[in-house]
Amino acid sequence: MKHYRIAVIPGDGIGKEVVPVALDVLQHTAEVFGDVTFNFTEFPWGCDFYQKYGMMMEEDGIEQLDKFDAILLGAVGDPRLVPDHISLWGLLIKIRRSMDQSLNIRPAKYFEGLASPLTAPKEFDIMVVRENSEGEYSEVGGRIHRGADEVAIQNAVFTRKATERAMRYGFQLASQRKGKLTSATKSNGIVHSMPFWDSVFDEVREEFPEIKANQNHIDALAAFFVSKPQEFDVIVASNLFGDILTDIGGAIMGSIGIAPAANLNITGEHPSMFEPVHGSAPDIYGKGIANPIGQIWTAKMMLDHLGEVNMGASLLQAIEETTAAGVKTSDIGGQASTKEVGKEINKRIKVLSGK
Ligand code: NAD
Ligand code: IPM
Ligand code: MN
Repeated sequence: MKHYRIAVIPGDGIGKEVVPVALDVLQHTAEVFGDVTFNFTEFPWGCDFYQKYGMMMEEDGIEQLDKFDAILLGAVGDPRLVPDHISLWGLLIKIRRSMDQSLNIRPAKYFEGLASPLTAPKEFDIMVVRENSEGEYSEVGGRIHRGADEVAIQNAVFTRKATERAMRYGFQLASQRKGKLTSATKSNGIVHSMPFWDSVFDEVREEFPEIKANQNHIDALAAFFVSKPQEFDVIVASNLFGDILTDIGGAIMGSIGIAPAANLNITGEHPSMFEPVHGSAPDIYGKGIANPIGQIWTAKMMLDHLGEVNMGASLLQAIEETTAAGVKTSDIGGQASTKEVGKEINKRIKVLSGK
């Protein structure tokens, strides 16, 4: 019997609605499969916490999280209470950076029964490897010069180490999948960083001659995601390009409320963090209608990461069966509540466990 200690940060907005449902599904999965237990420890960090204590997490928050096997996070941000650059950099980005979660892995895949905006959705199955530590999200040289001729400056930073790391991970992933890798670039318009990105790509691809590798400019790639998603396998992208592309990935599945993500620490020195692609959705918070699939699929990625691939596979199958049966929240064309979707997924997990 394996025991896992999971740090749970519901965060803000719909994070507080979808995380309890994902925990319930995880607990149920553990019970019906019977070979693991989960010990969940919740941390009340987020914008409410900031209003009380003037900080997004406790001062020793990172040390506290370091003791866990994995971190499950909902969403961070309530711009009505705290400006986003304070809340996100004080919690979400702080954890990603302090725990060396250098890669952000985000799938997008066709699901039967989903209300995709594509007129004739074909089966697609994409993995985006998003560089998660630098690029356009660098803290180097950022400043606002006030006064006359105001100007804001921010440096994009692309180190060889982080660029190679993302690309090598992408190639390795492609070799376990359909053997195709696409690099998201913009070397036609971004003069310094993207030609560098391309040159590293050209070097790393030499190590993987069996992989069909190509590159697309991010603007065209964004359009191809909508017009021919079935042509892609693994995509490697910079921090910002990967961010934007994976919201599109959610949209072509039917809703960004479905898309999951894993912030991976690949050195094993710190826990990895699992959080859906979507945010705290203040526009629907409190109505009980948030789609919990992104959070539950994120929990599946956590199970896979912990090595519990059988439970992970059943969880994804239970999600797919639930949407195919028409049990869906309103963002994907149904009428079910957040909690109802969780309950229906639990029923199917029980059947799939064979117990
Ligand atoms: P958002 O993802 O919260 O919402 C965008 C749109 O998608 C909204 O219309 C929302 O209702 C809908 N949506 C999102 N998740 C959904 C779900 N599970 N079910 C149904 N509909 C869903 O993006 P935003 O509005 O740009 O940001 C809101 C706040 O969240 C901001 O503070 C932002 O910084 C933050 N944010 C946090 C994260 C994170 O913590 N990982 C990610 C993105 C945005
Ligand atoms: C995401 C989010 C974050 C990001 C924001 C909220 C800082 O959009 O996880 O996709 O850009 O990484
Ligand atoms: Mn995003």
